[in-house]
Amino acid sequence: MKRYGELSPSLRCIMTPGPVEVDPRVLRAMSYPVLGQFDPEFTDMMNETMEMLRQLFATGNQWAYPVDGTSRSGIEAVMVSLIAPGDRVLVPIFGRFGHLLHEIAERCGAEVHTIEKRWGSVFAPEEVTEAIRSFKPDVVAIVHGETSTGRVQPLAEIGRACREQDALLIVDAVATIGGVPVETDAWMLDAVVGGTQKCLSIPSGMAPVTYNSRAEAKLLKRKQTERGLRSGASAASELPVIRSNYFDLGMLQDYWSPGRLNHHTEMTSMLYALREGLRLVLEEGLEARHARHRLHERALTAGLAAMDLELYGDAESKLAVVACVLIPPGIDGESVRSMLLHHFGIEIASSFGPLQGRIWRIGTMGFSCRENNVLRLLGALEAVLVRHGYTVPAGEAVQAALDVYETEGR
Ligand SMILES: Cc1ncc(COP(=O)(O)O)c(C=O)c1O
Repeated sequence: MKRYGELSPSLRCIMTPGPVEVDPRVLRAMSYPVLGQFDPEFTDMMNETMEMLRQLFATGNQWAYPVDGTSRSGIEAVMVSLIAPGDRVLVPIFGRFGHLLHEIAERCGAEVHTIEKRWGSVFAPEEVTEAIRSFKPDVVAIVHGETSTGRVQPLAEIGRACREQDALLIVDAVATIGGVPVETDAWMLDAVVGGTQKCLSIPSGMAPVTYNSRAEAKLLKRKQTERGLRSGASAASELPVIRSNYFDLGMLQDYWSPGRLNHHTEMTSMLYALREGLRLVLEEGLEARHARHRLHERALTAGLAAMDLELYGDAESKLAVVACVLIPPGIDGESVRSMLLHHFGIEIASSFGPLQGRIWRIGTMGFSCRENNVLRLLGALEAVLVRHGYTVPAGEAVQAALDVYETEGR
């Protein structure tokens, strides 16, 4: 009979755009005893988690809670609840995750209109606002931080245009929440989805979402009733009911309300992780956390430049928490990644679609975003590149990063 060894994953330095290393305090929280989901001790934790999520999303919204599942579950819950079949949906696309929003909108039965931007760039706000004015969508769905291309899309003007045109704005802030400012209320974002496994440094498995009363009004019009289920339309209006039970935000908010209407069995251990991860974010302070991500970005990019490695994409739209590096001609990118992992215990990411084999993606996110990780990666990358026959000015990458730390603080 086959014998299975004790589980013993290696300690890694994870410098990808997610999942990243998890703060040991979050891991510890996951090992605490499980509570029943209606135990008042547990429901108090749920309420505290909602309070902390409101701060994280910079919102006064009543609704801010996690959907159980990976980030995609939060995106799908928001889209399936807020997009009714036949709705007009505008999806501006500037990378792989924009295509995901497009696909989900199609599956919702929407009439989808897309506008696309060359990968490596983002939209000028007026390109989106003009499309909003001409297409007159019911919903606009857009990515804030594109991990596939390492770009960040400014959202304030798009938010204002959506409000003027009475369109709901859904935002994928999976990669940015906790690392880069996300101003839900100030930018007039109607529904925002965050990710746990990136800048929050919590394992994958929950997707924090928030939405305002405009979004809630729409999903309440689609709320499930006995009659609605049979006729296909909700009781409150002719809008069709939400065609998902698990992802019905109307049902989920009832579960997160003081009424605690039973829905699914809560992932108690994941909720401990989320609560602890949020506590750590707020303890650090959002502004300080954003500044920390910018500092390590500067140190990393100084080190990469010292090795004559070029960054991919337009400089002005670079996402602070992801550096996309052009693989030098003649270098086997996968061989470099493999050597980094197997000899140095460091993981960096490859890329998708048209960028496959052309760039490496290096993340500086959450708990992984620290000086010793950045220095370790730069030193190891230099050694591996030399091993691959690429000429690098010896030792300068680490020195350039150390200069940043010395002049700008740690
Ligand atoms: C911008 C963005 N959106 C959505 C997702 C999907 O998240 P998940 O894989 O957790 O479902 C990712 C994952 O990498 C992402 O980077």
